[in-house]
Amino acid sequence: MKKLYGIGTGPGDKELVTIKAVKVMEDADIIFAPNNKGTNMALDIVKEYIANKKVILLNLPMGQVTKEDYIKNAKIMEENILEDKYGVFLTLGDPLIYSTFIYLMEEIEEMGVQTEIVPGIPSFIAAAASSKTPLTLKGEKLLIIDEFKENSLKNIDTFCLLKTWKDKEKLLKEIDEEGFTYKYIKRATLEEEKILIDEEEILKDKDYISLIIGRRNPRD
Ligand SMILES: C[S@@+](CC[C@H](N)C(=O)[O-])C[C@H]1O[C@@H](n2cnc3c(N)ncnc32)[C@H](O)[C@@H]1O
Repeated sequence: MKKLYGIGTGPGDKELVTIKAVKVMEDADIIFAPNNKGTNMALDIVKEYIANKKVILLNLPMGQVTKEDYIKNAKIMEENILEDKYGVFLTLGDPLIYSTFIYLMEEIEEMGVQTEIVPGIPSFIAAAASSKTPLTLKGEKLLIIDEFKENSLKNIDTFCLLKTWKDKEKLLKEIDEEGFTYKYIKRATLEEEKILIDEEEILKDKDYISLIIGRRNPRD
């Protein structure tokens, strides 16, 4: 039987890749990852663990992927995994958090390929550690979100907002008005990591690999 592993590579530091992920990658027959103009961050993180392996970059243009694209790319993987061998699909962070793997897994399972997931350290967990921001104290609520909707922050103590580039000025104003103190963390765990708290500096930054963690200010 053919098998596909969804592997979380963690947020960026290669030492945060799990031992299990390394073992599974080392024994894999083929590696898949989304194509980001010929590169892929997850692939860069694990490059030393997959030297000499066949790699196929899949075209999944972010924000515009259709069901047909998922089917087409699941088919490419299915055709390239040999009988009784397995392939690996790499995901930045964890495969079940805002990842294309979730959709590909559904499609490839329908094609009769078995799947298994190796979890990775998610970006917001790494960013919380880098910035020493507690995510939850006893009895608190944590929100993980990629875009605020109306009332998203109601009754929330901490939020982790991924994908920070959309209308940042409005975003920071809303966070402030809702009574949160925030930190902007880019490239967590990588050499280029930066933790910004100054509004002007955050507004200037355009890095896609960034997120915002907010903690509700103590109520008087
Ligand atoms: C498509 S989502 C993938 C999330 C990933 N599966 C996870 O578990 O964190 C991409 C978003 O993750 C966040 N991200 C990923 N790695 C990051 C890092 N090292 N530092 C800060 N944000 C990161 C950014 O918000 C980016 O826009």
